[in-house]
Amino acid sequence: DARTPLIAGNWKMFKTPQEAARDAAALAELVKGVEGVDVMIAPTFACLVPVAQALEGSAVALGAQNMHWETEGAYTGELSGPMLKAAGCSHVIIGHSERRQYFGETDETVNKKIKAALEAGLKAVLCIGETEEERDQEKTLNVLDKQLKDGLKDIFPGSGEDALVVAYEPVWAIGTGKTATDDQAQEAHAFIRKVLAELLGKDLAKSTRILYGGSVKPANIAALMSKPDIDGGLVGGASLDPETFSQIVKFQ
Ligand code: G3H
Repeated sequence: DARTPLIAGNWKMFKTPQEAARDAAALAELVKGVEGVDVMIAPTFACLVPVAQALEGSAVALGAQNMHWETEGAYTGELSGPMLKAAGCSHVIIGHSERRQYFGETDETVNKKIKAALEAGLKAVLCIGETEEERDQEKTLNVLDKQLKDGLKDIFPGSGEDALVVAYEPVWAIGTGKTATDDQAQEAHAFIRKVLAELLGKDLAKSTRILYGGSVKPANIAALMSKPDIDGGLVGGASLDPETFSQIVKFQ
């Protein structure tokens, strides 16, 4: 298949600007010359500019972890798509489960943010996934269906076929050391691609990368990547150390 794998590191609320710049430079060096895989890291807002500088000349892309849907205004504590773009970002993570869980993010705000991200020329990484309770109640596919349909309502990413990335992150697998089995992940990913085909058309569904997130590490990435609908990883804990993350990037 023609989808270039994407390995993305979500640094969450870790690292000072100095630490982030140092680790970004180390990562750029470690993955230099690695071909056939796209790499992205998403540090905190305060680290974006120094990390952009540290990544100059490197193929490692820069992403943010969130954004506001307006371009500017009286929204204390927020940042806009054009601001992220100007700070050097090419990507933005939208609707991470931690934002949904702790900061009131809903499918409706996710939808506004994705529209604004694409408008600003950013690639949007839409995060979806079920909680443990929802999985136990066998509601996983319904939850994914709703998150995709509401999150992508009236969105037609015409701005290039890789403008949208979906990350499937079962909430019970995030930071817990519990990974979905390769088959559980593949089942969810195949379903997501089917819904994407309904929403965006077959061609776009085929070219859209679907990442798996939730306790990805060097030891489990290759097996996950061997599944036909898994196109990469959104890595939290194991992305913080450049050496460990570079091993995930070099999974093949
Ligand atoms: O965005 C990343 C995910 O939340 C996964 O985090 O790799 O620490 O489980 P984790």
